[in-house]
Amino acid sequence: TISHLLVNNVLFNIPQRTFGIDYDCNCFVKDGRPFRYISGSIHYSRVPRYYWKDRLLKMKMAGLDAIQTYVPWNYHEPQMGVYDFSGDRDLEYFLQLASETGLLVILRAGPYICAEWDMGGLPAWLLEKESIVLRSSDSDYLTAVEKWMGVLLPKMKPHLYQNGGPIIMVQVENEYGSYFACDYDYLRFLLKIFRQHLGDEVVLFTTDGASQFHLKCGALQGLYATVDFAPGGNVTAAFLAQRSSEPTGPLVNSEFYTGWLDHWGHRHAVVPSQTIAKTLNEILARGANVNLYMFIGGTNFAYWNGANMPYMSQPTSYDYDAPLSEAGDLTEKYFALREVIGMYNQLPEGLIPPTTSKFAYGKVRLQKWVAGTQEPCNQILPLLFIMIYYFGFVLYRTKLPKNCTEPTQLSSPLNGVRDRAYVSVDGVQQGVLERDKSLMINITGNAGANLDILVENMGRVNFGRFNNDFKGLVSNLTLGQDILVEWEIYPLNIDGAVNHFIHGYPGQPKRSGSNPQSYEAPAFYTGTLSIPGGIPDLPQDTYVKFPDWTKGQIWINGFNLGRYWPARGPQLTLFVPRNILVSSVPNNITVLELEHSPCSTQLCEIEFVDKPIINATTQYEIDAPPLFVRDMWLSHL
Ligand SMILES: *[C@@H]1O[C@H](CO)[C@@H](O)[C@H](O)[C@H]1NC(C)=O
Ligand SMILES: *[C@@H]1O[C@H](CO)[C@@H](O)[C@H](O)[C@H]1NC(C)=O
Ligand SMILES: *[C@@H]1O[C@H](CO)[C@@H](O)[C@H](O)[C@H]1NC(C)=O
Ligand SMILES: *[C@@H]1O[C@H](CO)[C@@H](O)[C@H](O)[C@H]1NC(C)=O
Ligand SMILES: *[C@@H]1O[C@H](CO)[C@@H](O)[C@H](O)[C@H]1NC(C)=O
Ligand SMILES: *[C@@H]1O[C@H](CO)[C@@H](O)[C@H](O)[C@H]1NC(C)=O
Repeated sequence: TISHLLVNNVLFNIPQRTFGIDYDCNCFVKDGRPFRYISGSIHYSRVPRYYWKDRLLKMKMAGLDAIQTYVPWNYHEPQMGVYDFSGDRDLEYFLQLASETGLLVILRAGPYICAEWDMGGLPAWLLEKESIVLRSSDSDYLTAVEKWMGVLLPKMKPHLYQNGGPIIMVQVENEYGSYFACDYDYLRFLLKIFRQHLGDEVVLFTTDGASQFHLKCGALQGLYATVDFAPGGNVTAAFLAQRSSEPTGPLVNSEFYTGWLDHWGHRHAVVPSQTIAKTLNEILARGANVNLYMFIGGTNFAYWNGANMPYMSQPTSYDYDAPLSEAGDLTEKYFALREVIGMYNQLPEGLIPPTTSKFAYGKVRLQKWVAGTQEPCNQILPLLFIMIYYFGFVLYRTKLPKNCTEPTQLSSPLNGVRDRAYVSVDGVQQGVLERDKSLMINITGNAGANLDILVENMGRVNFGRFNNDFKGLVSNLTLGQDILVEWEIYPLNIDGAVNHFIHGYPGQPKRSGSNPQSYEAPAFYTGTLSIPGGIPDLPQDTYVKFPDWTKGQIWINGFNLGRYWPARGPQLTLFVPRNILVSSVPNNITVLELEHSPCSTQLCEIEFVDKPIINATTQYEIDAPPLFVRDMWLSHL
């Protein structure tokens, strides 16, 4: 594996960069030598570009050889044929930073990734064909995949290890054996186009739950089969499952869980360091390769979180109880795992970048925004109900067909609210309908009054057969015995509008009148945060807290930080990275409160604090986790 380079008539020997599998030594081979990797997951889409270098360096200093990252298709192709690889989406720059930091890369290229990411990374515009069978040989699905891979993979090719870049392996699909379709032609199709674009040399692999059941539909000849499993289980049994598909070759756990995901309304997941350290040691002692999922979880900014079924969406924080916290802080778990890694890899010399400072900027007074002249980007559709692909919010409006002087049932008999609907009549809030949870409320109002239903998309299902997650109102609503008809539908470009609010005027709070649950019509609140002078190194990272607020969305200087929902928890604070703050002028804050603000009765304030709270107890936590989640968890053991 030596090649020659002629420079100024002098012949140099240069070792060629190679990476592959040696089935005789049951190992990977890098540059002609046996190689075992210890890797950690970081999703560039969940960490601001500003902090990529800091996080990668902390990973390097933990003794890792490699990082593993997902490519979320919907993050890069927001509309069919429109591609975005700029700023926080600059994957090639991320790869370059990894390479400069001395980290190899294991690329999980999709098209489906799961990842607790909206629709598992698949673009919602695929649902324009209502009957599409995602992750199968459905011809429209394959056409879209082929086109996307024709954009992504050629960009990745120069970053392959043998071409001088950091990428040693590329994963095809993700946990396909857990999906009902079991379509080998689909996997063969992917194998073909990955080879077409990346060449014959690169190691292509799959990842599935560590059981023959999962490997049955997940593994394919030509794709190296790896497994995933959690700490605390039987490592021998888990790798025996991999051996059922790969009798020889390196042992690989592609997702060794350092923590676990959260859902709104459920207890924050915590996995003790000792459990992870012990199993990690067992894995490494047998010479196996491992990827720690996650090494840093990061944040579901804006609307990017996914959901599981029965419908439970994931919170804004994707902290994951990982060795590096959501904000990149060094934790006790980081040092515990670094110690184990240090028994097998030489830890790099030098300083570990310190945890960044956090600053408690304190309380910020907000004022209610009276929209007045602000009309929604109006698109009155003749259709009764449509299957919409959108992020954020859609307003459905109709007129009350009759006098509802007495409380009258408004219901969604077929559970068709996707996912949460804030109901008001002539601006007076009536209550909330919620998918799988609350299918009926009582309303009152006069015939002809505007019945407004603001529907929130809380994140598309990212796992299992419910991936075709149409949003909006997907079945009829009834008022009493009657089906409501003649809807106007307004997809709201709220993120676009937020920039206009910044230049507008605050108004007086409008009392919503008395109603039993004290809901208020959804409303915007604005305010400013000025970074204090005379203190060195400001702005710094911070967390924003919502005392006595209920549920909504927050933007700072137009950057969508994500959803807050202290009324349900367990997350009470949102991470605010310093890169979105400026010290030269006041920072503009916009809050969309969907249910009830403290503004008419208490102080209309949010607070910037220096410590996160993502583990609060909540009213729902006595609920046992739904069966499905337990099964998913168990399938990883
Ligand atoms: C782990 O699994 C192996 C293989 O199935 C089995 O032989 C062994 O007894 C198991 N160990 C424990 C502690 O259950
Ligand atoms: C609703 O009630 C108002 C007065 O209470 C009455 O004038 C009107 O005719 C009623 N409309 C319908 C559709 O029953
Ligand atoms: C709706 O109103 C009816 C009749 O007034 C009452 O029996 C029922 O409990 C109410 N339902 C809810 C969910 O408030
Ligand atoms: C809603 O009701 C209308 C009228 O009864 C019916 O034609 C239509 O099929 C229903 N739509 C859905 C999505 O159930
Ligand atoms: C906040 O909005 C004001 C105008 O209302 C603008 O002058 C200022 O530049 C904005 N601040 C930032 C940080 O964008
Ligand atoms: C939440 O986490 C903090 C910091 O780790 C800890 O001190 C606290 O006891 C936890 N609270 C709950 C309710 O678990």
